[in-house]
Amino acid sequence: MASVTYEHVYKRYPGNTVITDMNAQIKDKEFVVLVGPSGSGKSTALRMLAGLEEISDGMVRIGDRVVNDVAPKDRDIAMVFQSYALYPHMSVYDNLSFGLKLRKTPKGEIDKRVREAAQILGLEPFLDRKPKALSGGQRQRVALGRAIVRQPKVFLMDEPLSNLDAKLRVQTRVQILKLHQRLQTTFIYVTHDQVEAMTMGERIVVLDNGIVQQFDSPQTLYEHPVNLFVAGFIGSPAMNFLNVKVGGDGQTQLQGEGFQVPVEERVLSEAGAERGQDVIMGIRPEDLKDVRFPGREGLPKVSAKVEVVESMGSEIFVYIVLGGKTLTARMDPRSHDIQPGQSIQVAVDTHHLHLFDPKTEKALVSRGAPAAAVPAVAEAPAPARLSREAAAVSAMPLPRRCWPRAAASPSAPAIKRGSMPPLRASATTSSPSRPMSANPATLKTSFRRPRRTSAGSIFSCTTPAAAAAPGWMRPTSSSTRPSS
Ligand SMILES: Nc1ncnc2c1ncn2[C@@H]1O[C@H](COP(=O)(O)OP(=O)(O)OP(=O)(O)O)[C@@H](O)[C@H]1O
Ligand SMILES: [Mg+2]
Repeated sequence: MASVTYEHVYKRYPGNTVITDMNAQIKDKEFVVLVGPSGSGKSTALRMLAGLEEISDGMVRIGDRVVNDVAPKDRDIAMVFQSYALYPHMSVYDNLSFGLKLRKTPKGEIDKRVREAAQILGLEPFLDRKPKALSGGQRQRVALGRAIVRQPKVFLMDEPLSNLDAKLRVQTRVQILKLHQRLQTTFIYVTHDQVEAMTMGERIVVLDNGIVQQFDSPQTLYEHPVNLFVAGFIGSPAMNFLNVKVGGDGQTQLQGEGFQVPVEERVLSEAGAERGQDVIMGIRPEDLKDVRFPGREGLPKVSAKVEVVESMGSEIFVYIVLGGKTLTARMDPRSHDIQPGQSIQVAVDTHHLHLFDPKTEKALVSRGAPAAAVPAVAEAPAPARLSREAAAVSAMPLPRRCWPRAAASPSAPAIKRGSMPPLRASATTSSPSRPMSANPATLKTSFRRPRRTSAGSIFSCTTPAAAAAPGWMRPTSSSTRPSS
């Protein structure tokens, strides 16, 4: 169990910065999700924590220990990848126990841990089976099991459910959450799926273009997105956006193409939005309501044409055209009689209105209140002051390989005959010894093992570190924000 801290972390490739000034304090036992579109730097952030990628600048800590220069196997973490990477010729039991055997864990202890993991994951009936005789979900559970038996301080998961079908994803999602409750360990989970992020994360780091946009609870991200990106990314169906101008004689209004919505002058002035200013209005689908039902009397109304109606059973998505744009309204089944082509009156719940500055894309008004009242993006901790030794350590080149010095050292034990040869970046898909992978391309880039290693079948190690980096000082401030 341990906290994880990113402090002013950068990842640079020649001519390309893929992580910029990442700051995040993940609490001990917390379940944090990194979410963002493809290429936003989620895997890179995770891989830097795992030690699979060099950190170009900044510090990463696990607990109190700066791990920038700590070999991956000594970081006391376990990582589960999208590819299951199971050994096809080994039984489930052997897949689970292999890493512990390599680490010379006593037999009795191995058996205890394997059976415990199998019991937690419902794998007991399959212990003697080979991976090829398992379903995708069962294989993914074996991959999880291999991480569990290590009893690491931190679990890292990079899109572990991507290879599963929709139903199995939901089941395995629940299983991972139960696992977290049971193990009481820090989990950091990467996904590009905002629904997965919202349902799994106690807190969520939203990344875009390598920059942390917001780090907060799912509810706060949903209700108080700090900028246009988070507002549009979190929520399904997504928030609707309309270009409007602040105007009106007397009563302040947001004026768009063919409609206006009255708003409280005080809220706008407190938010710093002046008359004549162009703003982007954001409105969640559930805040566009059918006017015909009680409770909507006091809300401003707009006329809109219905384009499409989608009935989901428990709710209805009504696509309406307003201000030249198609907006989604989420209505309840009472609105079943709404038909495409019809003109309808829609109530706009201005208590939940969002406004954004079109230039900075920052929130001005958040859920009907000035956005200044909303906590800002996770504050960066004050830069840590380094001792001279620590600065020297930080300047040292970092290992490029998964198992750098210890594994490459002549003293590392050779793999026994008949045991799994380690993976290398050049492993070919036809190699019979290559662990089973649903995605060989990912496997190639995810696993790199030197020829001789004491490391196990999935990347992780519980070996206590030989030495922590000396002389590091803790930052003084905390970036943990209260959730609303
Ligand atoms: N070796 C490299 N050299 C240059 N750029 C790289 C290198 N490796 C990764 N990148 C870039 O870093 C960015 C972040 O990649 P990363 O794999 O972290 O994204 P991701 O958020 O995990 O995306 P996905 O959801 O597709 O897995 C991408 O734009 C990628 O092209
Ligand atoms: Mg990725």
